[in-house]
Amino acid sequence: MSSIVCLGTGYVGLVTGVCLAKIGHSVTCLDINEEKIHSLQRGIPPIFEEGLEQIIQEQNNTNLFFTTSYESISCADVVFLAVGTPSQSDGSVNLSYLIDAARELCQHISGHTTIIIKSTVPVGTNQMIHELLERESSSAATFSVVSNPEFLREGRAIDDFMHPDRIVVGARTSEDFNLLRSIYQGLNGENLNFIESNPETAELIKYASNAFLATKIAFINEMANLSRACNADIDAIGKAMGLDPRIGPEFLKPGPGYGGSCFPKDTRGLSHIAKSFDSPTTITDAVIQSNLMHQDAMVDYIVQNAPKNAQLTLWGLTFKAHTDDTRESPALAIAKKLLANGFHLNVYDPMHKRIPRSILPKNVSWSTSPEQATEASHAVVVLTEWPEFKTANWADIHDNMATPRIFDLRNLFNRAEMNAHSFEYFNLSHASTSTILL
Ligand code: UGA
Repeated sequence: MSSIVCLGTGYVGLVTGVCLAKIGHSVTCLDINEEKIHSLQRGIPPIFEEGLEQIIQEQNNTNLFFTTSYESISCADVVFLAVGTPSQSDGSVNLSYLIDAARELCQHISGHTTIIIKSTVPVGTNQMIHELLERESSSAATFSVVSNPEFLREGRAIDDFMHPDRIVVGARTSEDFNLLRSIYQGLNGENLNFIESNPETAELIKYASNAFLATKIAFINEMANLSRACNADIDAIGKAMGLDPRIGPEFLKPGPGYGGSCFPKDTRGLSHIAKSFDSPTTITDAVIQSNLMHQDAMVDYIVQNAPKNAQLTLWGLTFKAHTDDTRESPALAIAKKLLANGFHLNVYDPMHKRIPRSILPKNVSWSTSPEQATEASHAVVVLTEWPEFKTANWADIHDNMATPRIFDLRNLFNRAEMNAHSFEYFNLSHASTSTILL
């Protein structure tokens, strides 16, 4: 078993470190944020991720250690680099955290160290880090740099890590490919594939995968808007399309637009990378544009079908269910646009205790239950597909509201059921008849 340091305890670094400890490696998670590390040492993760806290508490101080000290790197055979690579205002990727981390490595690596880049990085970054280490590390230390992008979904990250469909490794030597195979040999994905390539290919696989998934979502959202205009049913369309194995059923659920810390950043990043190689990605550029326009379409839909200056209830602020993450959440963008259109907002999210109030302007009211948020409201707007909303008490909500109206921007509910509860129901289809193909 390898002695591993995971540098960076964000979603990717923490899940990677904790899961590697679970499959038997000795892992030290290193972060310069003292508050985070102290909390992790006490078994408390800074993020909500199903199953994470349990594994941390189970592995803490046996296979799993947390530190702020770079000294731990001198004893490691393997260092995973999983620091943030945020977007800059022009869409390019900010590599400063990665470069800072690599510089720290130079001071501390000894013997032979394999440095595995997990962060999503532009094509050529592995080579650039290799060259930086060659220039700046001591002549006694040897190292190799490997690309190993991640495909973890927030909310399902532990399961995705433990049961991967693919492990992508970009390296230049058979020793490095073999090392990565041995690190992951404790994992058992049903159809686990090892994809071995050069680092540039591995780096681009990550961007291509996220951009393609974002394209599917933008496409189905455009189809949803068209469906509303021509009395078609987007759920039936997505279902029928997904039955074609060449298309596949996943990522064809319409919604208020894709968000999160990955798709928006990575589509912008890919577009920027492609331009730097003078090979533009016009499809990805259109997807970025389409996703932004879709938020406006959602706001227009509400403006056209709710009373002027009405009181609205927003259900869900996170970018999707089962996470406390609101980064680039379409719910927040839509909330701000609704405020700009003169609406008054009362918001509820099941993760409300973990979401800082400062993410929305001060004139927004916050509630602690879905029902409470509907008090005197003219419409409920469903923005995140939290299961809790499915079991809402419609009789109470109906009594609470000034006018019983719902904008279901996740197509969570059934029109007949909502009509039976005497709600005026607007969803992403707005079809008058149901034509679900079964
Ligand atoms: C995404 C990818 O799915 C992961 O494979 C990847 O590892 C990760 O980014 C990353 O790069 O780190 P994640 O951001 O957790 O994972 O979220 P997704 O589940 O992919 O959802 C992204 C957005 O698309 C959400 O806003 C979600 O609501 C939306 N979505 C997803 C739809 O609107 N419709 C769908 O059918 C699927």
